[in-house]
Amino acid sequence: MTALPGWRERDAAVFLHQHGSTPALGVLRAASGVWLEDEAGRRVIDLHGNTVHHIGHGHPRLIAAIKDQLDRLAFAPRRYSNDVAITLGEKLTARFRGGQSRMLLATGGSDAIEIALRLARAATGRSGIIALEGSYHGHGFGALALSSHALDPRLGSQMPDVHHITPYWDEPLGGADRMLRDLSALLGGRSDIACLIAEPMRSSCIVPPAGLWRAVQSICDLHRVKLIFDEIPAGLGKTGRFFAHEHFGATPDIVVLGKALGGGILPIAAVLADAGLDVAPELALGHYTHEKNPVTARAALTTIEIIEDEGLVGRAERLGLVLEAQISERIAGKATLITGVRGLGLLRAISFRTRPGMMEAQIVAAGLKAGVSFTMKGPNVLGFSPPLVISDADLGYALSAVAGALDGM
Ligand SMILES: Cc1ncc(COP(=O)(O)O)c(C=O)c1O
Repeated sequence: MTALPGWRERDAAVFLHQHGSTPALGVLRAASGVWLEDEAGRRVIDLHGNTVHHIGHGHPRLIAAIKDQLDRLAFAPRRYSNDVAITLGEKLTARFRGGQSRMLLATGGSDAIEIALRLARAATGRSGIIALEGSYHGHGFGALALSSHALDPRLGSQMPDVHHITPYWDEPLGGADRMLRDLSALLGGRSDIACLIAEPMRSSCIVPPAGLWRAVQSICDLHRVKLIFDEIPAGLGKTGRFFAHEHFGATPDIVVLGKALGGGILPIAAVLADAGLDVAPELALGHYTHEKNPVTARAALTTIEIIEDEGLVGRAERLGLVLEAQISERIAGKATLITGVRGLGLLRAISFRTRPGMMEAQIVAAGLKAGVSFTMKGPNVLGFSPPLVISDADLGYALSAVAGALDGM
């Protein structure tokens, strides 16, 4: 295929401009495995992938399964169920709360988060929601309100009854201790709180201190507040455990999966809940047109089978340790700006010393030139989140490219 002349202007002329997508960084003509290829044929390893690419881009087994499903049953109106959606449900619910769980499906993470909130409200008869200040749970009018108490006023009024507490990662404000104090104070003073929602590890990859989530869970249990974990980026093996919360010894009442669930090809998300929360059959908690869509369900089912059959959860854990060792070696050799790596499994962020004049956009551009695509997680931290199928050699290449990009600036 030839290059796409004028793509930048054409893209900018048709899409509403918004942060992070238009104007676009480039235009792709292929995505395969760990690689992205742009219109000029330049190839980079995708260390970002919107965290959908656990099994790599365009996994052949997944593409074959989706094609097969299109020929069998391509859609099911909501009043009907289908074999694939049921089998997916059996597979996922078997993994949560010892199999004592139920599930709902949605087409995106934000919608699934809002199902989880509605479920917690319906099950407790309370409306209050606790979220961590500076979190992210999606862009619906419910999900967005969770992010911060101070959203851009141009967006208008947000969902009420949301209470923000200090997040564990905000060390200057007191970190995990302050978070627990905020939580206890809030719950001690009111009885209208339905749930607390958080990512067990924020996707900026700051690992919570040991015992934090167990303590949160006890406080929530004491006040009969439901604990919801958003594992939309971190679930499905990315951190070296199938569920990220398995690292922390806390089991939420509800967990939300998304992103990689569709294998990086189709949009699908899932809400898994304690079976005891199946208490509102008369309500439509997740009334979505494509709820049990057999094609997206087949993508999710096949993705989980690939994760299982290719041993990708264990692989993420092993490669995470390899990455840590390689970074320690580089730091010991002192010839690098890299100062450390944080996170779990292959959901990682690399910190580095900045030189005067180093701007975030230039760092991303230097990465692309060196052969890697990543996003910034702060002025001196970049995301390093490769697919779980990355080979040992490509992982080493990606790290060298990141170090080369930084050190060459
Ligand atoms: C932690 C977290 N929750 C929810 C979402 C929303 O998912 P979606 O973009 O599929 O609506 C995202 C997306 O980036 C996310 O990172």
